[in-house]
Amino acid sequence: MNTEDVIRTFVEYFEERGHRRTTGSTLLPPPGDPVLFTTSGMHPLTPYLEGRPHPLGNRLVNVQRCLRTTDLEEVGDLTHLTVFEMLGTWSLGDYEGPRSLSWGYELLTEGFGIDPGLLHATVFGGDDQVGLDTASLEVWQERGVPVELTVEDNWWDNGPTGPCGPDSEFFLWTGEGPPRSTPTRDDRWVEVWNHVMMRHRKLPDGSLVPLPQRNVDTGLGLERLASLLQGRTSVFECDVFTPWRRLVPPLWPLDEATLRLVCDHLRSAMVVIGDGVRPANTGRGYVLRRLVRRLLTALWRDDPSRTVGDLPDELFLHTRDHFRQETGLDEVRRVLCEEERRFLGLLERGRQVLARPRFRGPLDEEDFHYLHDTHGLPRELVVNLRQQ
Ligand code: SER
Repeated sequence: MNTEDVIRTFVEYFEERGHRRTTGSTLLPPPGDPVLFTTSGMHPLTPYLEGRPHPLGNRLVNVQRCLRTTDLEEVGDLTHLTVFEMLGTWSLGDYEGPRSLSWGYELLTEGFGIDPGLLHATVFGGDDQVGLDTASLEVWQERGVPVELTVEDNWWDNGPTGPCGPDSEFFLWTGEGPPRSTPTRDDRWVEVWNHVMMRHRKLPDGSLVPLPQRNVDTGLGLERLASLLQGRTSVFECDVFTPWRRLVPPLWPLDEATLRLVCDHLRSAMVVIGDGVRPANTGRGYVLRRLVRRLLTALWRDDPSRTVGDLPDELFLHTRDHFRQETGLDEVRRVLCEEERRFLGLLERGRQVLARPRFRGPLDEEDFHYLHDTHGLPRELVVNLRQQ
């Protein structure tokens, strides 16, 4: 089952159960939202979870692209991606958690053919504000799925204030042999789907008040599920990375972790540019700039003559089509190449400045400020150049 089949199966399953697919899945949050990029499937739906009626009704399904920079240092391992897609479903004050979990169980086991014996669930165990989630616990007990109770790991919020609630998560066993232990004790249990019973709002003083309606918000990482269904433990081995794995190594021989980082950052940069962002020194543009500089730094470690200008069109096309974007290939390539040229120029200037006697010894805060303010050299770049 490739990722397109996974999306189709998921969306159709929920459409058959009265959900409407929401349109639009850009990485850019709506105007007025303080966050730079959409970080989860529920993000654009926040006003509707808080009670505003949604024009498509109270059962929704969607595929939402998300960008997370909190995990940037983890990219290169088996599971982290900067830009990824989340499949999601929402009950806006309609059905409650048990029905959502039952449908989720049926879709995973019957729709996607996952062996029920490889599933584990986690459920909110209760704290001094909200009690044990007995309704979810009963769903799992009826189906004979083992359950682990946790407190922090089964509470979902999107920041210090706003909609939040207890959640119940599906885990899939990825180890050799029969399942062992529990999700919090053995990381061969991989989280695949989170169902949040979103019925509270957290106030700045930490107290909870009920939302005007009882919602369910679920989210499932597309690439992670697709990899597991394809029998892979690494997201970089699922079908969305097939052209990358075929075309990048002959161009640039890289070790596995660097290959993953370069492919992730390049693909993410293409999507961000496709959604209309351009490199800049602040905000979204700075996130894009950082991604490009990180990947070029990794790429040039062994061979400074490598250039993103050599990337085949197929990679640009594949990314654009997968994310259903419209920005022309030449434009995306032009932005990447121009940013590469700018970075090269900055590195050259940095090397010249750092060769001055004043900067031979250890640098203090004043030096970093001077290098930044007078020569436009960011601290990260200065540190990198001094390590070379
Ligand atoms: N909001 C939850 C998450 O991001 C479920 O969609 O995991």
